[in-house]
Amino acid sequence: MTLKFAGMDLGTSTLKTSCDMGQKKYKMISLIGDVTEGWTGMTTDKSWLNNLVIEHEGKEYFVGELARTQSEIKYPLVSEGRMKSAENAFIALKSSLTNVAEDGDDFIIGVGVPVSTPMNDMKELSRLLKGTHEVKARNDATGEKKAMTVNVKKCMVIPEPYGTYYWTLKQRKVDVAIDAVLIDIGHGSTDFLAMYQGRPMRQSSGSLNEATDTLTNRIAKKLGDQTGKVVRSYELMKAIELGRDSVMITGETFSIKEVKNYYAEQIAKIMVDETERLIAFMPPDSFIELYVCTGGGAYIFGKYIQKALAQMKMIGKPEDCFIPEDPVMSNAMGFELVVRDRAEDKESE
Ligand SMILES: Nc1ncnc2c1ncn2[C@@H]1O[C@H](COP(=O)(O)OP(=O)(O)OP(=O)(O)O)[C@@H](O)[C@H]1O
Ligand SMILES: [Mg+2]
Repeated sequence: MTLKFAGMDLGTSTLKTSCDMGQKKYKMISLIGDVTEGWTGMTTDKSWLNNLVIEHEGKEYFVGELARTQSEIKYPLVSEGRMKSAENAFIALKSSLTNVAEDGDDFIIGVGVPVSTPMNDMKELSRLLKGTHEVKARNDATGEKKAMTVNVKKCMVIPEPYGTYYWTLKQRKVDVAIDAVLIDIGHGSTDFLAMYQGRPMRQSSGSLNEATDTLTNRIAKKLGDQTGKVVRSYELMKAIELGRDSVMITGETFSIKEVKNYYAEQIAKIMVDETERLIAFMPPDSFIELYVCTGGGAYIFGKYIQKALAQMKMIGKPEDCFIPEDPVMSNAMGFELVVRDRAEDKESE
């Protein structure tokens, strides 16, 4: 019997998992959906990750990429900055475990949920996850089956950006709890987490609907006006991720460089205004030593966030706001460290 540790981060666009000290880390689209019969075996990609079917209480569900492309009815795991249903989240997390678990494994898991998720839903998710699970999965492309018993011995459900906070302190070998502000820019929402003496401060934390999709929506609208064609926001996401400065619309190339930079700067300002508003609720004796910008949105908004924080004199110079090297995975990797360290502390007691 092996004891394993895993960190999981439940985002709007993807569910991230980190295991074996970040040696195993991957993303799965944050969707589950109903099974559509009859298309099995027609894909060239036969990976488990993209063809995952999971059984839950006698019913099968498509998970991740398979749900996105094949399910008629899809259930997003997160929207409007909060977890939608503890049960669906549980199904997705169980699915994710099939990629890292073997029959008979014991697990200690740290799971991050959006900051605005109600406390009761966090407790419910923790309750569902804890215990022994008979996990049954099927690969829709190959028909292969997996069955395993996994025992989740402990489970912590934590606000998402805490993972990055923990990861950053560890990396800097800081072992005192410093006051910090984390700005986690995701696909559909941005989470703010303020830490005071090592504890999350509810009043100074929150979320905004402005995120990466706000940027693609604005660019899509602008391009639509310019070209008279319908430009869909999600079609621009790939171009943004690849760092492209132009896009092709019905065979013609258009530059997005200026609109992209213009809106990214504007949206970053909105995020920093919100940060300022939230930290006004911090206790007078707090001293924010660390600002971090993380999440996939850090790739595009990071430098504007740094600039705006410096302009508003919240930091001395732009580089004082830290951006992790893997902003998409940093929460999941941090949660794995949290549960690992806690277990070791218990042992040495
Ligand atoms: N290399 C990249 N360059 C630019 N943008 C990127 C890159 N990688 C990811 N993104 C963008 O970051 C967003 C996803 O970020 P992230 O995975 O942090 O979001 P999420 O956690 O799923 O969402 P949320 O935090 O809103 O729940 C997507 O919009 C994606 O397009
Ligand atoms: Mg996120």
